[in-house]
Amino acid sequence: MSRDKLIAMTRNLVAHGAADTMEYADEVVRVPASAYTDEALFELEKRNIFRRLPLMVAPSCELPNPGDYKAMDICGVPLLLTRQRDGSVGAFLNMCTHRGNPVASGSGNASRFTCGYHGWTFKNDGDLVGVASAKDFGAVDKAALCLKRFPVYESAGLIWATLDPDSKLSIADYLCGYDELLKAFEFDGWTLFAQRTLAGPNWKTAYDGYLDFYHLPVLHANTFGSDFYNRANYFAFGPHQRLSTPSKFAIKVSGEDDQQMDLEALADEELPQEVLVQGVWTIFPHISIASFYGGGQRGAMISQLFPGDKVGESYTTQFYVMENRPETEADVKSAHEQFDFLEVVVRDEDYATGKRQHQALQSGLMKEVLFGRNERGGQVFHQWVERLTNASDAELLDIFAAEQREAAE
Ligand code: FES
Ligand SMILES: [Fe+2]
Repeated sequence: MSRDKLIAMTRNLVAHGAADTMEYADEVVRVPASAYTDEALFELEKRNIFRRLPLMVAPSCELPNPGDYKAMDICGVPLLLTRQRDGSVGAFLNMCTHRGNPVASGSGNASRFTCGYHGWTFKNDGDLVGVASAKDFGAVDKAALCLKRFPVYESAGLIWATLDPDSKLSIADYLCGYDELLKAFEFDGWTLFAQRTLAGPNWKTAYDGYLDFYHLPVLHANTFGSDFYNRANYFAFGPHQRLSTPSKFAIKVSGEDDQQMDLEALADEELPQEVLVQGVWTIFPHISIASFYGGGQRGAMISQLFPGDKVGESYTTQFYVMENRPETEADVKSAHEQFDFLEVVVRDEDYATGKRQHQALQSGLMKEVLFGRNERGGQVFHQWVERLTNASDAELLDIFAAEQREAAE
């Protein structure tokens, strides 16, 4: 079923490539410049988007073994992710139920966490197992004082959590079947080769760049090259979008010689997996996934973007995941070179431009920015941000129940 969908997308790209066409949006769309600069709107987005919708918080391979954990701060919410004894993931409010001190920081492996303030101890499934000097403290109901749980969902080698403990939105509904397609990357069982975090501009300014091939041959002329194709077709699954170049050719990366494949000449069952997932896969509101080949094998860069403290700031963690850990020194070196190259592209080209753009927009002297008919991804993204920022909790459930029904048809 999902392979059928992937093949249909590939055939769409091949047909458009062969005809030298692309799919256009209906019209050029205007977005108010204040969507990027308004501080009150930025706070509302943090609350109604990032603190209310499911977020892809970690690739599964970041927490491969029971006991693995990481603590994060997302828009002011302290989050603790753990790989529990039964292999499932727990997502908790990282606050001791005594007086709120975070029980864990950074990442590591632990079966229990002892709070550094007065010494209460929690298991990595959230249970409170020890109250320090319990007799002196007085009677409390330990069962009622376990760490507060967030909704969590693991699928396609990725982990989602919703930073609202009372959320009624099903994470599977929210994904609109998209995670079934993401399984084609086969991230389950992959390995996390490296990660780093970069500072960027306003979160939407930064995210626009991931939804845009239009800029590739211009902004990235010195890195990717100026002959890079600047067209993309967009495939939407609820608010989540995949974009890919309309082309009848694909490069077969076999590790040695790159060879060009004519996809029109291949039967559906001959289409390689790497062709079916090519392009960029974004997960609303903040993830972008792109495949790479480096260090002698398949890899992908997963970029995870969060708003910063101020409207003009964001930060992005780049996870470089690989099918297998590269073994030879040469492969390790080449994988690092690939990852370093991608850092330079994003930091010095995309985000440096985004910061200049943001600063200019803050002059307030330009009222609107434009998204062309060839930039449907940005149009759709901004429409979803606005719609979901303004939706009530009840409307949110209705929106995704309807999307899920549509996806199931
Ligand atoms: S705040 Fe954690 S033990 Fe007191
Ligand atoms: Fe870019």
